[in-house]
Amino acid sequence: MTSTNDIRRGFLDYFGGANHDIVQSAPLVPYNDPTLMFVNAGMVPFKNVFTGLESRETPRAASSQKCVRAGGKHNDLDNVGYTARHHTFFEMLGNFSFGDYFKEQAITHAWTLLTKEWGLDPARLTTTVYHTDDEAFDLWRKIAGLPEERIIRISTNDNFWSMGDTGPCGPCSEIFYDHGEHIFGGPPGSPDEDGDRFVEIWNLVFMQFERQDDGTDVPLPKPSIDTGMGLERIAAVMQGVTDNYDTDTFKALINASEELTGTKAVGDQKASHRVIADHLRSTSFLLADGVMPSNEGRGYVLRRIMRRAMRHAHILGAKEPLMHRLVGSLAAEMGAAYPELLRAQPMIEATLKQEETQFRRTLDKGIKLLDEATAGMAPGDILAGDTAFKLYDTYGFPYDLTEDALRAQGFGIDQAGFETAMNTQKAMARAAWKGSGAKASDDVWFDIAERVGSTEFTGYAANEGEGQVVALVKDGAEVQSAVANDTVTVITNQTPFYGESGGQMGDAGFISSGNMRGEVTDTAKPLGRLHAHQVTINTGEIKVGDFVTLKIDTQRRNSLRANHSATHLLHASLRHRLGEHVTQKGSMVAPDRLRFDFSHNQAVSPQEIALIEADVNAQIRGNDAVTTRLMTPDDAVAAGALALFGEKYGEEVRVLTMGKTDDTHYSLELCGGTHVNALGDIALFTIISEGAVASGIRRIEALTGEAARLWLAGRENQLKNVAALLKTAPDEVGVRIETLMNERKRLEKELSEAKTALALSGGSGPKVEAEQIGDVTFMGQVIAGIEPKMLRGLADDQMKAIGTGIVAIIAANENSNTVVVAVSSALHDTMTAPDLVRAATEAMGAQGGGGRPDMAQGGGPAGAELAQAALDAIKAKIAG
Ligand code: ALA
Repeated sequence: MTSTNDIRRGFLDYFGGANHDIVQSAPLVPYNDPTLMFVNAGMVPFKNVFTGLESRETPRAASSQKCVRAGGKHNDLDNVGYTARHHTFFEMLGNFSFGDYFKEQAITHAWTLLTKEWGLDPARLTTTVYHTDDEAFDLWRKIAGLPEERIIRISTNDNFWSMGDTGPCGPCSEIFYDHGEHIFGGPPGSPDEDGDRFVEIWNLVFMQFERQDDGTDVPLPKPSIDTGMGLERIAAVMQGVTDNYDTDTFKALINASEELTGTKAVGDQKASHRVIADHLRSTSFLLADGVMPSNEGRGYVLRRIMRRAMRHAHILGAKEPLMHRLVGSLAAEMGAAYPELLRAQPMIEATLKQEETQFRRTLDKGIKLLDEATAGMAPGDILAGDTAFKLYDTYGFPYDLTEDALRAQGFGIDQAGFETAMNTQKAMARAAWKGSGAKASDDVWFDIAERVGSTEFTGYAANEGEGQVVALVKDGAEVQSAVANDTVTVITNQTPFYGESGGQMGDAGFISSGNMRGEVTDTAKPLGRLHAHQVTINTGEIKVGDFVTLKIDTQRRNSLRANHSATHLLHASLRHRLGEHVTQKGSMVAPDRLRFDFSHNQAVSPQEIALIEADVNAQIRGNDAVTTRLMTPDDAVAAGALALFGEKYGEEVRVLTMGKTDDTHYSLELCGGTHVNALGDIALFTIISEGAVASGIRRIEALTGEAARLWLAGRENQLKNVAALLKTAPDEVGVRIETLMNERKRLEKELSEAKTALALSGGSGPKVEAEQIGDVTFMGQVIAGIEPKMLRGLADDQMKAIGTGIVAIIAANENSNTVVVAVSSALHDTMTAPDLVRAATEAMGAQGGGGRPDMAQGGGPAGAELAQAALDAIKAKIAG
């Protein structure tokens, strides 16, 4: 038996040998097409090459492309499990010619590979062509020698392929394999064509047109070839089975689920095992490509697929979450061909387990409600819309899961009733929001959100992508278009631009389409679910409905990423170093810096700052990958995540883990922001300030990467300049300053001594003469720059000189005035030294002073005038 892995390899080797460039499968989320939910055909990654927008070096390519057909134009979800060939996930083998070979060579290659390389019996092959395509008809006659009755002309869309409502398209020719008479079914175009006997295995599309918005088909620059062969189907043919679920890959997965559930894939249980095997593939590959379960857009399609599988696990009696235990088998089958599956395996397992645990909490109750509601119903009856809505809203049953559950018994759902219930709830939510004091200007956002749904954010993984303009808002009102020099808010169905939230600033960047060019200056996030690009149009016009290319300013975003991740590391380090009482009180993540406010009731010491910087930089150097998981808020907090008190979280949250300690991760936080892939991307971390913002709340500002380097380099520069001024080397600056300070102290001392000596010797100025105030001999003076401690000795000396009387000396210094008064004992009956000192200090606006009757001292503020005033006050007091 040829294994599926060998068939894939054989296909690529064949076309590699025929000068085709072998291209890796693109991720399931299309980066180049906003109209498409998931890549649903091998040609999707080449769409712009077909239309001429992009060029490739080589005009031929071949690939095995991962495809998901669930949600969107090609949606097979409902059929999976019940048919032999429907899948939500499959691989499409394809060979492509971009304006190189056309119909003849495409047919030749297909025929050669199938019949010569792989040895399929030509008698079992039948083809179809578009009814007007005589050329293809003749080529099948010529190349394959097929009889006319086995080249069937088909006039329907079955033989005119288009990727979606718009995009490249063209007539096609399909190759069918006849499994034989023992299987029911007829050739294509016959009444029994839906039977399993004739199976389409390969579709050759003669890509000739591009379908426009208005439905018209415009010729492509060069006719091209796009082919698609379902790997699962050709594997069934080559492995001699008629059912894709009997091929090696599916058998391995179904065996695993049989073993884990202890049930066999027979009878009623067959569909459940198939659903599980198929959905395991789509969910694992979607998760590996960055889609996370959510209640919007792609994430919701993923959740629907997951929950559908989980209900079937429950039907099979699984008592514990099942899906995550099957990922190993899938990785064993497909990991070699798709290494992304191996890389993401732990994350896929954790996410599936989390989702299944969460869903199982309400599953039993939901099923009970469903059983009660359907108890009296007969086949053909319809379940009430509000019951289906309750199952959706309260028990997490996606609409199609309820539909699937009812299908076995032949019941339907009142879909209109379901939608009415949904709309009523939305109206209530809007009223509640308004009641909470939101601005009237939010009305416009509500209108848009209700009409077009939330914006899908693609920017965790991508820096650019296409989006369709779903609304334009100018001066608070919706408009249909905007032109050069207008400033307009642009809402698209999906965007890589992060809308400001959780402290992280919104993205800036560029928007373009056709000849329109605009600058996105900021992105807001009104209602928490629309990404509102603030755009200044530079040239051209933008209109609602346009497809635009959205490119974030990557450098700016990388700085935001680094600063946001560094904020988490800082938070963790603060808790390690200062204690668990540290909690986040505010945060601002800008491209050029980060700011973090936290509870702590004293200043963070320089030593602590140094340790925190060392911690954070050690984690950065550890360069561990940053991991993201989805959890319920409760589980996340139970796992130790730092939840923000008072913050509102949705049904599930992103949980970021970073770095490591000896036994666990270094940081675990709930966060919707964008982060570095590995901590080394932060490069460098430095704290530039620490201070108080309010009582008990401190603020740290810090820098990372180039900003940190520049800041540190700036500091180094300052040091160099200082060293140059001091005429020494930067390393010697400390010693030099110490020497200078000692020198200054010595000089000050010398100066003061010199001044005192000068004063004692009468100085060089006019000598202080004793004067008579009434009967009293008085000697008084103000001396600048004399040390206060010299005053008493000086006063004694002067008293000796005058014999009996009063001496007053006031030292007028830089910071204060000091007064000393000496009074001979003979005068004590009428006057004492403290009395006179008090008079002096009062005159200087100060108070106090004291001592003995013969000698007292006091002080006052600095200033020559005040010193003079003090002296005058003493004289006045003596004069009485
Ligand atoms: N694009 C073509 C298909 O998907 C080959 O069938």
